[in-house]
Amino acid sequence: MVLNKPQNGKRPNINKDLKKLGGDGVLVVGGGGREHAIVRALKRSAAVGTVYGAPGNAGMDVTETGISATDIDGVVTFVAAHPDIKLTVVAPDDPLSMGMVDVLSANGYKAFGPTKAAAKLEWSKAYAKDFMRRYGIPTAEYESFDSADAAKRYIRECGFRVVVKADGLALGKGVVVCETSEDAERAVDDIMSDKKFGAAGDRIVVERFLSGYEVSLLVFTDGVHYSLMPTACDHKRALDGDKGLNTGGMGAYSPCPVFGAELLKKTVETVVEPTLDGMRREGAPFKGVLYFGLMVDGDDVRVLEYNARFGDPETQSVLPLLDGDLYEIFNACVDGTLDKTRITWLDKKSINVVLASGGYPLSYEKGKRITGLDDVNGATVYFAGVKRDGDGLATSGGRVLCVQAMADDFESARETVYREIGKIRFDGCFYRRDIGAKL
Ligand code: AMP
Ligand code: GLY
Repeated sequence: MVLNKPQNGKRPNINKDLKKLGGDGVLVVGGGGREHAIVRALKRSAAVGTVYGAPGNAGMDVTETGISATDIDGVVTFVAAHPDIKLTVVAPDDPLSMGMVDVLSANGYKAFGPTKAAAKLEWSKAYAKDFMRRYGIPTAEYESFDSADAAKRYIRECGFRVVVKADGLALGKGVVVCETSEDAERAVDDIMSDKKFGAAGDRIVVERFLSGYEVSLLVFTDGVHYSLMPTACDHKRALDGDKGLNTGGMGAYSPCPVFGAELLKKTVETVVEPTLDGMRREGAPFKGVLYFGLMVDGDDVRVLEYNARFGDPETQSVLPLLDGDLYEIFNACVDGTLDKTRITWLDKKSINVVLASGGYPLSYEKGKRITGLDDVNGATVYFAGVKRDGDGLATSGGRVLCVQAMADDFESARETVYREIGKIRFDGCFYRRDIGAKL
């Protein structure tokens, strides 16, 4: 493929592009499929000019800065040197937990995303659980511990099946769903004594295992007002039938048909509003995208986790459904004017499937040439673990790319996604064949 050529047969609109030359620059922090989906949605805004990536990636069609997503000084220096940048969008968990938004704001630069204090809902599971207890938000029964012995005592005495969670960020891998109490005690040792996730495991949460199905509900919020996005369903296991190891996510669809209006209303009343109110009362109003990871069993809805950001790969299914101006929405979240912003969604069904490197989520080879991208038609390719390879792209990560399509019904969207995936090739490529199969 030719680099920087718009993907999927879309030709540049010269007049529109010329008009946008004077548009606002936006810096997007991060470099995966989620960030690519954010970039594409931002570029649909007439007000947006150059989109920069920190670091971005070679398939994303952004101006790559070479700055890593956790380099706060580098990002601030870059924004200072580029007065066209009117907004920095901080997408990943790590820079949010390090306070990138706080530092940008303190230096007078506009940034989209929660402060470090608000993002604590994600970067400390013990904080999130205590927060839910304080504000009566439904979640699994739990205790948190900073001693392995006390945790093991609880596991032996609690009388229910448990899940053991490292308190801090652990690349989404710090959660162990245990079959038996022996497994759970081993997980405590792995996390607390052997430091499998480093300092993220200095504290742990032990909570009751919940059964049911999982739904991701994301909202835009300015700290006071909020706007719901269509629900989504992620597929975390590597293999078909939810077998294999946990991954960062192998595909998603949106909206989630089993999660109807009644459940949504209940979730808004018992989870969304109490969370936003609670964060204001904590003195840490949450501005940005708040992600509620929910477990649903009949009409029982409980929070499994909060994420202080868009999910990956949910975003690659949800944002294409947005029938509005993402740049305007981001600005409204920062400015506190979300109630005055029109946000509508297409009444369509969206599905995405992640193409991964053989071996992922364990070790895998990199540098495999990707072919067939130019033939993709009717679906959108979001790039994640890719690098330049001559005039084309090669693999450079576990989750390489994500193919998404939407249609009036899931069956057509699914058919399109899998048909188009069949045109893309790289050595060792694997993907789940059952995303959205039961819909
Ligand atoms: P978390 O990062 O806390 O959402 O956990 C990652 C995954 O572990 C979730 O998406 C669930 O699949 C599973 N999980 C977490 N907590 C529980 C729980 N209490 N009961 C059952 N499964 C859970
Ligand atoms: N898809 C789950 C996450 O982004 O954490």
